Amino acid sequence: MKVNGVHYRSIWVEADGRSVRIIDQTRLPHDFVVIGIETLEDAARAIETMQVRGAPLIGATAAYGMALALASDASDDALEEAALRLRRTRPTAINLHWAIDEMLGAIRNQPREDRVEAAFTKAAALCDADVETNRQIGQHGLKLIRRAADAKPGQRINVLTHCNAGWIATVDWGTALAPIYMAHEAGLDVHVWVDETRPRNQGAALTAWELGQHGVPHTIIADNTGGHLMQHGMVDLAIVGTDRTTAQGDVANKIGTYLKALAAKDNDVAFYVALPSSTIDWTIADGVRDIPIEQRSGEEVTHMTGRSANGEIVTVQISAPGSPAANYGFDVTPARLVSGLITERGVCDASREGLLGLFPERREA
Ligand code: MRU
Repeated sequence: MKVNGVHYRSIWVEADGRSVRIIDQTRLPHDFVVIGIETLEDAARAIETMQVRGAPLIGATAAYGMALALASDASDDALEEAALRLRRTRPTAINLHWAIDEMLGAIRNQPREDRVEAAFTKAAALCDADVETNRQIGQHGLKLIRRAADAKPGQRINVLTHCNAGWIATVDWGTALAPIYMAHEAGLDVHVWVDETRPRNQGAALTAWELGQHGVPHTIIADNTGGHLMQHGMVDLAIVGTDRTTAQGDVANKIGTYLKALAAKDNDVAFYVALPSSTIDWTIADGVRDIPIEQRSGEEVTHMTGRSANGEIVTVQISAPGSPAANYGFDVTPARLVSGLITERGVCDASREGLLGLFPERREA
């Protein structure tokens, strides 16, 4: 997608085939800063500090982290250590482990002298596949937005989203935002309610920035506003992303998603989740019980960072000094609250049968 009219992906390699670049998302929306990822440790730190975030982009960054690790040591031990280091960076997004497993599968049997080339080639292929997958998600989701538009001809369609599941959470297009970008490009009058998404403000800082760069009408709302808007008929559908979806269709996503799904159910608003199949964890069913939920520093809750009136980036404390804070990064929305899953193969019920209908190869023999 575009930044100031120039097309970018969220991660890329320069013409030399080895210099990995990312957009430092901790600097957005105030500064657009591209940084280099030169080592395994750079990649791991970028994921941990959320310079990159969003399940698919975490996976893509880990893939390049593996390639960079091999560039300095292509031994079996270094390969396995790189995988372990990257697996420990963040606990909830399953795409991380999926991408690492894909990389291990492509590299383990290669002779040592071919490993670096094979790793960079595989990482690039994973990135290209992510872009194509998200394009397909966008096309399937577009049909849902069209259906909502057909139900109220001549009127604006209001879509609510939470966190950032746009192009900078993936390699390009995004998951939840891909259908919105496609609807906008198809000339539909679509407007997005953007949950600010405390504590890291991925909605206010990233989703709103992305949509603004692309010219999509949007409005930032405080996180607790969605229920009120739904009660007053001001949300036609909600679309969110996910960091891990279980085999029965339970969905982990940024903290606060569950409450939006509850409000949507109470108000008969369709609540969709968009995801590439790399986000499905086929090994677990009960998401509330089995998905590990990241807990982050309480300082993300007690402090906020932004641009002051004189243009400086400042961090301020918003709570009484000494008050402890809890910071659960994600919650799980049970499948019964999800109207449908938008995948690269189409839209299905949030259920085991729904998912297996689209991914029959996952049926046990
Ligand atoms: O903590 P983050 O910013 O990595 O969390 C990201 C989200 O919750 C996204 O909505 C989710 O990863 C879907 S990304 C396409």
